[in-house]
Amino acid sequence: MAGYTVSFLPNEIEINCDSGTNLLELAADAGVEIKAVCGGAGSCGKCQVIVKEGKVNKLDQGILSPDKLEQGYVLACKAEVISDVVIEVPPESRLSKHQILLDDDMGDGEYLTEEDLNIDDRVELSPLYQRLELELNEPSLVDNASDLERLYTEINRDRNLPDLKTPLPVLKELASHLREYDWETGVSLAAVNGNYEVAELSAPDDENSDYGIAVDIGTTTLALNLVDLSTGKTVAMEGAYNKQANYGDDVIGRINFVKENDGGLERLHQSIIKSINELIENAATKQGIEHSDIKTAVFAGNTTMAHLFLGIDPNNIRLDPYIPTLNFIPPVRANELGINIKEESWVYCLPGVASFVGGDITSGVLATELSKQDKITLFIDIGTNGELVLGNQDWLMTCSCSAGPAFEGGGIEYGMRAMTGAIELFDIDEETYEMKYSTIDDAPPIGVCGSGLINLIAILNEVGIINRSGKFDSELEHERLRDRDYEKEFVLVPKEEAGIDKDIVITENDIKNLLRSKGAIYAGIRMMLRNMSLTEDFIEQVLVAGGFGNYINLDDAKKIGLLPDLPADKFKFVGNTSLKGAKISLLSKDAFDRVEEIAKKMTYLELSAEDQSQDFMDEFVSAQFIPHTDLSLFPSVTE
Ligand code: FES
Repeated sequence: MAGYTVSFLPNEIEINCDSGTNLLELAADAGVEIKAVCGGAGSCGKCQVIVKEGKVNKLDQGILSPDKLEQGYVLACKAEVISDVVIEVPPESRLSKHQILLDDDMGDGEYLTEEDLNIDDRVELSPLYQRLELELNEPSLVDNASDLERLYTEINRDRNLPDLKTPLPVLKELASHLREYDWETGVSLAAVNGNYEVAELSAPDDENSDYGIAVDIGTTTLALNLVDLSTGKTVAMEGAYNKQANYGDDVIGRINFVKENDGGLERLHQSIIKSINELIENAATKQGIEHSDIKTAVFAGNTTMAHLFLGIDPNNIRLDPYIPTLNFIPPVRANELGINIKEESWVYCLPGVASFVGGDITSGVLATELSKQDKITLFIDIGTNGELVLGNQDWLMTCSCSAGPAFEGGGIEYGMRAMTGAIELFDIDEETYEMKYSTIDDAPPIGVCGSGLINLIAILNEVGIINRSGKFDSELEHERLRDRDYEKEFVLVPKEEAGIDKDIVITENDIKNLLRSKGAIYAGIRMMLRNMSLTEDFIEQVLVAGGFGNYINLDDAKKIGLLPDLPADKFKFVGNTSLKGAKISLLSKDAFDRVEEIAKKMTYLELSAEDQSQDFMDEFVSAQFIPHTDLSLFPSVTE
């Protein structure tokens, strides 16, 4: 096959490829990050690029208007390279810097301020990988126990580990090591499947620290803590966006990519491994250590991310009856996965509950100590989906409510993730409807992120531009409100002010998608309450978690009916609890075991099951109004 050179603008990144190579996949290989909400299905239109020179083979470009095609736009996911070509990636199609919660970002002002979960004080240090200093009795003719028995006796002097194992490589060096150091030795134990193994022998008084990593594998972002296992302190934090986003914005997009592309599973698996290894590299460099100083790792992610991380086909997750390959994941050797830490180290994934409630949620329950609370607590994690937990120390119920990625910009024409140039806050003049806005990094606006969308719906409804069902006021005449195809749109930012070459608008369809998303989350909350014969008043505490929670304006979220209308002091923002729970598990074997207990204890409410689906539909329909069809549920908002 002929080899061609593709040059991506504006960064002038060049890459060679064979004829027929898919342009979106090639961009990912070249490190050019292009939005791909639908995972290359050709339905979202977010991957538009402009062919400046050369030719591509256009496959199904159906959703692009004739005008756009005329201007040289193509869907990257539906274009193949057939010549040398120069491609411009316009600003609205680029993925750029994200707001990522590493675990100490703070909200401010009218936003929820992150609650300090006091992890460092709370955890009793007993890491999954721990080093002991031992002094063994020297053997003699009257004390002729073997070297291994002698070692086990000393390990068990202050602890009870009857099922210790020692792998062959350690056995091979045991005799010479003990004699070289005159029966004093350092011994590292690694927890494996409820037992421990002797993972490593070291010189006595070895002052080098052992490190571990805790990683949150989010659908959108990755966050990593490098932790000194001897002190429990985080010594470096790294975050990045999940490169799998090149293949789909949400888990369904990624699963579709795996299903529809030969080698898709391996591509997504390698993509996540590569992203994590880059974070490890950065953290190790910052701390001035070798990869081999990192002796263990704990990962927390949703069920699809866990499957892709392990290289397991996630296809059944999206098919009725939604069965994952596994929820409880045995430890895996780092080198089997290609994770760049000490070879043969154990890598642990926190257990999930079901296809759409994964280890990120059980990790969150651990981090917030929800399962120890007296108070009836609602835990909400809104990311590319909405996962909910309700309960206390006596019971835990969980569900996932298919909120879809609207709050991360999916399905919204000018929606985007919280990145540079995203509008996060609006202000509107009630008389003239002139709009002011603020953007992330004060960059020219290129779209609206989740917090901006929530704020936008709240203020458009407040000033009467949209009614409670999300429709534009049919009587309203204003230059910003105009007809298009089969619906209306409202201009938020005219082209002259925007960082892209067109007006930024919100359409009736966008608003419908947002109301569906918020409706799904609120309906999920109502369904859990119903199943426990409770009402909103019984909720004593609401914990808002996840990368999105940090930026939600509480009043706006209540005004549109996304969060229950409860007093502000009942809400706490708890940050990236997936990462926090992973760190706690890394540092405490007891906590690690407790996550498994938590996963077993949680009752999963399948909202599409026969006995739930009709009630859920009723709740869902009612919740698609602003704030709800039943205004008595939102007394403070409707006062
Ligand atoms: S249309 Fe190309 S990724 Fe969605």
